[in-house]
Amino acid sequence: MRAPLPMSVQIKGPEDIAGMRVAGRLASELLDYLTPFVKPGVATRDIDKLAHDYMVGVQGTIPATLNYAPPGHSPYPASLCTSVNHVVCHGIPGERKLKAGDIVNIDVTVIKDGYHGDTSRMFFVGAPSIQARRLVEVTYEAMWRGIRAVRPGAHLGDIGHVIQRHAESHGYSIVREFCGHGIGRQFHEEPQVLHYGRPGTGLKLQAGMIFTVEPMVNAGRAGIRALADGWTIVTADHSLSAQWEHTVLVTPDGHEILTQSVGTPPPPA
Ligand code: MF3
Ligand code: CO
Ligand code: CO
Repeated sequence: MRAPLPMSVQIKGPEDIAGMRVAGRLASELLDYLTPFVKPGVATRDIDKLAHDYMVGVQGTIPATLNYAPPGHSPYPASLCTSVNHVVCHGIPGERKLKAGDIVNIDVTVIKDGYHGDTSRMFFVGAPSIQARRLVEVTYEAMWRGIRAVRPGAHLGDIGHVIQRHAESHGYSIVREFCGHGIGRQFHEEPQVLHYGRPGTGLKLQAGMIFTVEPMVNAGRAGIRALADGWTIVTADHSLSAQWEHTVLVTPDGHEILTQSVGTPPPPA
């Protein structure tokens, strides 16, 4: 998602950081909860309902996406995004049932005590094709390379550069229209964290900044288009697309991933 422009990049203090750790963990735990339900025959709407009930009934969190309406958009109608196969992002859950061989991104954002935790993972429904598995793995590695570039004194362009280089070295392309974002009491804050770029360019990172890293990688060309629902983004060439997302804090020594829980997939080898 693109961040709105007003407000500058915040340096979060101890109280904000404590709140963001809780929100981040809860977002990740929500994905853990949903994981066993991601299987053939389940409608994405069922996953949305499970998520909504878990957030509101078990976690005491608020689904940040529900009725979210940034300028120029109609209110988003669900408690998470389910983006299947050639859907890049912001897929609206619906009647469509998952089937073996699908890949799906589930992107959740919870609000706890006013703080936002934003994370997404890819899921294989049944056994994936070799091509789908590779795309998902390379996208995961790309996100991790971006995260590993996060430290005080680094530049945003360093993050974008390593993500872009990794994806393109496998013949894939980076979606340009959407980016990571600052996050805190607002869902989308400054800065915009592009998933492409040149080393040494862009904002210089400081301890206390919190933002997401969430590359969208297409197996084919980078072009996208929006569906008539005003939200769903698909690849223009209908190639597969993958995305992973973590919320990350810049620490004095490097970084801390805030969106972690027992079910978080391990870092790539
Ligand atoms: N969670 C998405 C992000 O990573 C934003 C989804 S906004 C929605 O920024 F309205 F589409 F849900
Ligand atoms: Co995000
Ligand atoms: Co997200």
